Amino acid sequence: MLVNATRMLKKAHDEHYAVGHFNINNLEWTKAILLEAEAQKSPVILGVSMGAAKYMGGYKVVAAMVRALDESLGITVPVALHLDHGNYDAAKACIEAGFTSVMFDGSSLPFEENVEKTKELVALAHDKGCSIEAEVGAIGGTEDGITADGEVADPEECKKIVELGVDFLAAGIGNIHGIYPVNWTGLHIDALIKIQEATGGIPLVLHGGTGIPDNQIKEAIAHGMSKINVNTDCQLVFAQATIDYCAAGKADPTADNAAKGYDPRKLLKPGFEAIRAKVKEKMELFGSVGKAA
Ligand code: 13P
Repeated sequence: MLVNATRMLKKAHDEHYAVGHFNINNLEWTKAILLEAEAQKSPVILGVSMGAAKYMGGYKVVAAMVRALDESLGITVPVALHLDHGNYDAAKACIEAGFTSVMFDGSSLPFEENVEKTKELVALAHDKGCSIEAEVGAIGGTEDGITADGEVADPEECKKIVELGVDFLAAGIGNIHGIYPVNWTGLHIDALIKIQEATGGIPLVLHGGTGIPDNQIKEAIAHGMSKINVNTDCQLVFAQATIDYCAAGKADPTADNAAKGYDPRKLLKPGFEAIRAKVKEKMELFGSVGKAA
C-alpha cells in the first residue's frame, strides 16, 4: 500500500521505534525489501537517490516499477516511495512523477537559500499529498560523489526549517554515510536532545545507518530519531553473497555441477536473500516489526 511517510513516522515517534528507509537500486532490491516488510508486518520507506533513479531509467520508471510491484506482490503494509538527498529540480520532478515522499537536501546551500527552497517545496509536496524531509547540517561521508563531514546541526536552524512545515527533518549529529572510520567518535546524543527540544517533537531522521553500534541506534530512537536510512549495509551483503556464489563455481558454465547457475535469476538470488535477511535484522533492531497497522 503506497502512502506518504507522515503518518507512519508520527506513529513511530509516538511509540518510540523507527521505520527503516532502505535505498533501492533495481528490481531485485525493491522486491526483496517489499517482501520482507510484508513478512515482518512492518512499515517501510524505499529510498531512491538521484543517481540510483538515473541508473534505473528515471523517476517515472521508478514510480511505475514500485507501484506495480506493490500491487502485484499484494503488499498490505504501508510503503513510502521517497526521494533521497534530492536537489530542488529532483524534488519537483519526483512530486510530479508520483513519489509519495521527497527529501530536499539544501544543506550545502547558504541557509537562507535552503529556507527559501524548502518553503517552496513544502507547498508543492503537500499540494500533492506528498510528505517532505529537509536537511540541516551536512551529513558526513560520500554519496553519489558528494562529500561532507560528520557535522552537527544547529538547533536554531533546525527550528527555523521545521517551522516551514516539513514533515520530518534530517539533522546531523555526527553521523556519516558509508563505512565509519575507525576513529569515529560516535553519535552526539547531547546534540540530538537539544535539536529535538528545539523542534517540538517532530520525527527526526538518522542518515548513515550502516555501522552505527546497536546501543547508539537504540539511544537515538529513544531521543526522537524515527526514520533510519540504510544503504551500504544492503550493498555489502548483496556483494558478499554474489561473490561467494561465484567463488563456489556456481556461475561457471564449464563446472561439473553447472546447472545454468549463470542464469541471472539464480546468480542474483543469494544477494536477494541476503538483502531480505539484512532488512529483517534492521527492522527488529529499529522495533518496527508488527507495526504496520
Ligand atoms: P549508509 O549508506 O551509511 O547506510 O547511509 C544511507 C543513507 O543515509 C541514505 O540517505
